[in-house]
Parts: sequence; structure tokens; C-alpha cells
Amino acid sequence: MHRRILAPGVPAAAALLLAIPASAASWSPGAPGIGDPYYPYYGNGGYDVSHYDLRLKYQPRTDELQGTATVLARTTQDLSRFDLDFLLDVSEVRVNGAEASFTASGQHELVVTPKTPLAKGAPMTVVVRYSGVPSTKSAYGFTTWHRTPDGAVAADEPESAWWWFPSNDHPSDKATFDVSVAVPDGTQAISNGTLQSASSKLGWTRYTWRQDKPQATYLTTLALGRFDITTGTSEGGVPVVNAYSRDLGANDGAARASVERTGELVDWLTGYFGPYPFGSAGGYVPNTTTGYALETQTRVYYSPKQFAGGSNTSVVVHELAHQWYGDDVSLKGWKDIWINEGFARYAQWLWSEHEGEGTAQELAGYVYASHPADDAFWTVAPGDPGPDDQFDVAVYDRGALAVQALRNEIGDDAFFAVLKGWPKEHAYGNASVADFRRYAEQVSGKPLAALFDTWLFQPSKPAAPAARSLVRTGAAVARPDSWREIEATNDVHGR
Ligand code: ARG
Ligand code: ZN
Repeated sequence: MHRRILAPGVPAAAALLLAIPASAASWSPGAPGIGDPYYPYYGNGGYDVSHYDLRLKYQPRTDELQGTATVLARTTQDLSRFDLDFLLDVSEVRVNGAEASFTASGQHELVVTPKTPLAKGAPMTVVVRYSGVPSTKSAYGFTTWHRTPDGAVAADEPESAWWWFPSNDHPSDKATFDVSVAVPDGTQAISNGTLQSASSKLGWTRYTWRQDKPQATYLTTLALGRFDITTGTSEGGVPVVNAYSRDLGANDGAARASVERTGELVDWLTGYFGPYPFGSAGGYVPNTTTGYALETQTRVYYSPKQFAGGSNTSVVVHELAHQWYGDDVSLKGWKDIWINEGFARYAQWLWSEHEGEGTAQELAGYVYASHPADDAFWTVAPGDPGPDDQFDVAVYDRGALAVQALRNEIGDDAFFAVLKGWPKEHAYGNASVADFRRYAEQVSGKPLAALFDTWLFQPSKPAAPAARSLVRTGAAVARPDSWREIEATNDVHGR
């Protein structure tokens, strides 16, 4: 589809002339950020990616990563130059087959200037050849590449891609992925989707994973290390692949007792959210020292610490709920984090109710009562918390409280229709908090602007609603049984 190929016999200079339309003056560089006010330099302007093909090789002893990324994209403007978000050392870039010039810029920008400018709406193939030791790279003073005694893991939010592949690093540009990694025999490489093949040659085993549904860059994960891999199929027919570091020590049993419930819990969640959106499910527990879990698409990341207090099915429910709320339907901008975390936390409340350890209404009442009006908790607006409070506990607990307030306002029938309809309404796409409000209004037939404003946007404790009050005023509110497990998942905060 490239102009150069349409005129193979024409000498280069003449081809260049042919390729430059009269509107040459309109060519401009793509923006260094996609336009997210929380993170001005995350993602890039000027193109939209449809597929990443990553062919890599990793040596756990030295943390050396090398490989080639082939990025399929389409230009969204007449483009003279564009950025990728990346930190490793680049040796060659090609755009539509031709060598391009490139330079590192800012905190994590790789600036690529193609030999010839690209017209708007044209397909573009970018090949980036690179190598480096990810653990030696940082941006803004931090790294999210987590070294382990037996390898490394890339899993973090809102950023983890810069340390291992060049990308348009923002959830509004989702793409499919083929990730193929060669590691020394005896080491495993875990990524998203389905394992297509694993074969050994001359001491190196190559693992090839495929994600054939759109996936955000921060939901793309890579784990390199010594894992025990288990496979199965849920009763509802979803293939499950889990992996456990062989080095989990005392947490091994509790980790397996939790994550091996994945198939059962996926099936349980389909009752609330509709059919599971992806071709496989599962999770992995590497031997990191991190504390959080992350909803990496189809292959959830769990820190061993999540299981330090014993098994925790609640965290598994949380991360699996994200497969619908966050992964299938992704946020439009990072300010929309509530459509991820409010619902993943609410799923934990539904699980608590199912387990007979406290109803959603009881958990809502407990959250409401346990934060007095002058608690800083109420100053965080889950509907637009700001980058510093993006993962504040209020986004989760006040966020789920808002979901319960919505349920009480529109009634169970409309509420559960919204819960199940939403992933279908925006399947494999992106949506905002405002989109959610409009959808809930449409399904329930009720105006909800005031309710959303009170529960999600006001920096103060909402007055207890007159009807179906969240808490019987004056009565002591008992701590639901499930609280300990739910609270343990709050370990997600902080790096
Ligand atoms: N989405 C994750 C969860 O709620 C939170 C990840 C927070 N990131 C971090 N670096 N602590 O499961
Ligand atoms: Zn979450």
C-alpha cells in the first residue's frame, strides 16, 4: 500500500517527487503525548496502532533484552515525524521498509523521522531493532521493570511498556499482540493470551504468545523466570493458564489455593457481566517484592504479598472483574479510572455477599460509617481523582460506594442490566465516566447527573440518602467478615 511500491521502477528522487502531494505544507510532527492531562507525555499523536509483533531474546543472568518490534499502524495526520514511548537502546528503525532517522528525547520518547513524510490515513509499518538492560533504565526517577532472582517482570499501571517494547503507550490506542521470547532452557516466558508454541533449540526455548483481542499497552505483560505452569478449562469452557514462581516459599500454597480458583470465578462473574470477553484466562505469581496485583489482560499479575496473609479469592475476583471492566472496556483517559476500580471493588462486594460474609449494602454502610466527614478520604473525587490520587483507596472504596448508591437509586433490575450491558455496549473499546452515566440513564430511564456528582465528584462526604439509607443513623456498623480479605487487596498502592 505504500507509494514507493506502486512505482518500483522510478528512481528514488523522482519517486519522492511523485509521493509529495501539493499539500506538503500541512505535514507536521506527531505530538509527543496523546493528550491525556494526567500524563501529558504518555502515548503519542499522529498515528494509531493496530498490532504489535515482538520477537525478543532475554538472558536472566544479566537482564539483557534484545529484539525487534514490528508495529502496524495508520497515520491520523499528514505526518513528518512521530514518537514512540521507549527507554531501551535502539540500533535501527525502519518505516515502510526504509531506514528512518531516530533520536531519544524527553523522559521516554523515541523520535522517528521517516525518509519520506507520510500522508494521513496511510498504513505504516515501523520496525525497531533494540537491546538493553531494562533494570538500568528509568524515567521520572522510577522503574517498573521488576527484577527477580530468576528473571524479571514487566507489569505496572499506568506504565510498564517503556522498559521492554516501543509503543503508543496509552489505553486509548489498543492493539493485538504477538509476543515471542527466547529464554535459556529451564526458564519460562509468560505473556498474555494463548501459548501458540514453546520449542527448544541450542539451549534456548522460544515461547510464543498471541493476544487476538485489542489490548492496552499497560495490560501487556511479560514475566521471565522459573515457573510451574498449570493449564485447564473452566466449566463454562474458558481455557485457563496459570503460572507460579518455583520460589514462592511459604506463600506457595495460599497463592495456588487462590489463583487455581480462576476458572470457577470467571464463570461466576459471567453471571453478572456476561460472556468472558477473551480466549483465555489465568494469572501468574512471580517472586517479586512488589505488593500489588494488576489486571494484565487474560494473565493477571499477582504479587506474592497478596497471599502473605493466607489465600485470598477476593483479589482474584477483583482482577478478573477488570477483564470486563478495564480490559474489555478500557478507560478513555486516566481520569476515568473509576470505571475500572469502582467496579472491580464492587465485584469483591458481590463475592462477599455470595460467600455470606457481608452484603454489598453492608459493606457500603461500613465504608460510609468508618470515614467521618472530616476524613481526607472524602476529598478524593473518584470520578476525577487527579494523577496523585489515581490509586488512592477512595477510588476503590468510595468508588464502590458510588456503585451501591447507583444500585439503590435505580433498583436491582435496572442496575444488573447496566452491569451486564456495559461490557457489551463498549466491547473491546474505550469509554468514560460520562459515557457510563449516560448509559445508566438510558437503561434506567432516570436522570443521574446529581447522583453522580454527589458520589463521584464532590470533595466532601455525601449526606446519607433519605431513602434506602446506607446506614441506619446512630447504629454501630459492624465490620463485615470479608473486610480483611478486601482490605488486603489494598496493598496495590504505591510502587
Ligand atoms: N489496577 C491495579 C489493581 O487495582 C492497581 C495497580 C496500581 N499500581 C501500582 N503500581 N501500585 O488491581
Ligand atoms: Zn483494580
